[in-house]
Amino acid sequence: MPKHFLTILDIPRDEARQVLLRAKEMKDNKVRTDLLAGKTLLLVFEKASTRTRVSFEVGVRQLGGDPVFITSKDSQLGRSEPLRDTARVLSRYADGLIVRTFGQEKLETLVEYGDIPVVNALTDEYHPCQIMADVLTMYERTPDLAKLKVAWIGDGNNMAHSFINGSVTFGYELAIACPAGYDPDPAVVDKAVGLGAKVSITRDPVEAATGAHYINTDVWASMGQEEEQKKREAAFTGFVVDENLMAKGAADAKFMHCLPAHCGEEVTESVFEGPNSIVWDQAENRLHMQKAILEWIYKN
Ligand code: CP
Ligand code: NVA
Repeated sequence: MPKHFLTILDIPRDEARQVLLRAKEMKDNKVRTDLLAGKTLLLVFEKASTRTRVSFEVGVRQLGGDPVFITSKDSQLGRSEPLRDTARVLSRYADGLIVRTFGQEKLETLVEYGDIPVVNALTDEYHPCQIMADVLTMYERTPDLAKLKVAWIGDGNNMAHSFINGSVTFGYELAIACPAGYDPDPAVVDKAVGLGAKVSITRDPVEAATGAHYINTDVWASMGQEEEQKKREAAFTGFVVDENLMAKGAADAKFMHCLPAHCGEEVTESVFEGPNSIVWDQAENRLHMQKAILEWIYKN
């Protein structure tokens, strides 16, 4: 049976810890392997990407494999060929699918009809590669993850859901502040809390940020929500991460953002460009972490 990575919860807790340590080792030792020699991994993207696409293409090559990139715009996916047919065809050519799409159920269809590993490269619901890289970024500074308070300021979106699941796996406390109407999916919260996540939700960014070691945000309108931009700008007034909010965090609290950022919108330029912003390390760690995730999938 192929291994899939649709959410962070697909990796058992003890194995996730090993993946984290391996990603750190791969980073520190600039690890290259031939694990994927003779293997082709297809990147199937239905949304734009800079970091995810490039870090996967580079990472697959550094593990000795061949990446092939297609989009829905220039494939039959954009002309309504059913996903279940696409899954069966691509399984005959390749050794894995790395997929960025809309609904999470599309990944589940690829799993059901294909017979090769499927990796979630972002859906409307989750971004598990990003949270694993973000955990590595926190771990490098503060290895005792279970002692951390992490704040999420803004939309209860795919990244918020991923941080919620990350609390199950890595034990940090997560304090979420979002405006009414933009809460994370209660089903995601309930499931994670049932599995041991420490999650609170407030309407008050100051309450969430107080004492936090890491303060995270994301764009107010995610990919696919562009037409809601104006409505969301109004709804998210007061949810900007600025110097005052950062000052509520623990001493030397760090600012995090998965990128791309709308500087001057969800975060002020002084925070984004300031000494406590660790966004470039987050971006770099996508490469190292995804190599470790691919190793988890393909190593017997
Ligand atoms: N953070 C992230 O996934 O960036 P891209 O959209 O550029 O891939
Ligand atoms: N929430 C953002 C994350 C981008 C990496 C989006 O889905 O567009």
